[in-house]
Amino acid sequence: MTNDKIENGRRDFLLATAGSIAGLAVGSWPARTLGQPAGGSPLRIGTIGAGREGGALGALFVKAGHPVMFSSRHPDTLKGLVDGLGPLARAGTVAEAVEFGDVVMLVVPYTAIEQIGKDFGNALAKKALVLDVSNPIARRDGAEMVKWVDEQGGAGLASAKLLPGARIVRAFNAINYAKLSALAHRQGELIGVPIAGDDQHAIDIASKLIREIGFEPVVVGGLAMGKYLVPGTPLGGEHTVAEIRQLVSNLH
Ligand SMILES: NC(=O)c1ccc[n+]([C@@H]2O[C@H](COP(=O)([O-])OP(=O)(O)OC[C@H]3O[C@@H](n4cnc5c(N)ncnc54)[C@H](OP(=O)(O)O)[C@@H]3O)[C@@H](O)[C@H]2O)c1
Repeated sequence: MTNDKIENGRRDFLLATAGSIAGLAVGSWPARTLGQPAGGSPLRIGTIGAGREGGALGALFVKAGHPVMFSSRHPDTLKGLVDGLGPLARAGTVAEAVEFGDVVMLVVPYTAIEQIGKDFGNALAKKALVLDVSNPIARRDGAEMVKWVDEQGGAGLASAKLLPGARIVRAFNAINYAKLSALAHRQGELIGVPIAGDDQHAIDIASKLIREIGFEPVVVGGLAMGKYLVPGTPLGGEHTVAEIRQLVSNLH
């Protein structure tokens, strides 16, 4: 497939699923590096955060055929990660990853999101999807942060406040990084990934991406339900789709 065809397919997918998203960056990518994801056109994915969870999830997206730019405030530290993943993986600064991605994955300590919103909020609001994997965790982020998040209505609504206008879908928040690779494309019944978001087009894109890396998305509700997508809640950990539906029905 030629580079032009790949870019056209990617743009068509984004437009079909996301309506008229302004400012899609259609650039070049070496055609030989691009495979074809099982679900269709490759999407550019930028990660903010490429630590344990961001690195593991980004690796699954690369394996599914998507170009991924992993970012760090110190991109040199990502050389080992991207070299091991091959030509679809690159390392960059946070600004470069934000610019690169049709989709941006946010996988940072929750305390980092406020500054990220200040620095990149306008750019993130133009993305088809911001996949929010981040959690407020008291032992890491402090009790004050967790209290503030609770006051906003939980992690989904708090993320929306910190990233105004972004098409946020929370996902993968409570699946441990060390298990992601083994759980992906599991034999038998797939692991369900509870997701929460307010933007249907962003949910569609997230659902497609989640299926491509070997999980089954389960929409549990709008961003207000994002508070249930943190470790330590009933939905935390690994569940089948049926189990997630049962757990969600108990939440209402
Ligand atoms: N670990 C898990 O199994 C798991 C599972 C589900 C969800 N999560 C959630 O995912 C998030 C990340 O967890 P993790 O375990 O992957 O943490 P981690 O291994 O410590 O990685 C954190 C990443 O965030 C980046 N980062 C930190 N502050 C930043 C800032 N101000 N601006 C930009 N990037 C910044 C770091 O990049 P630098 O190189 O720039 O420091 C690093 O790549 C957390 O919210 C966590 O709750 C984790």
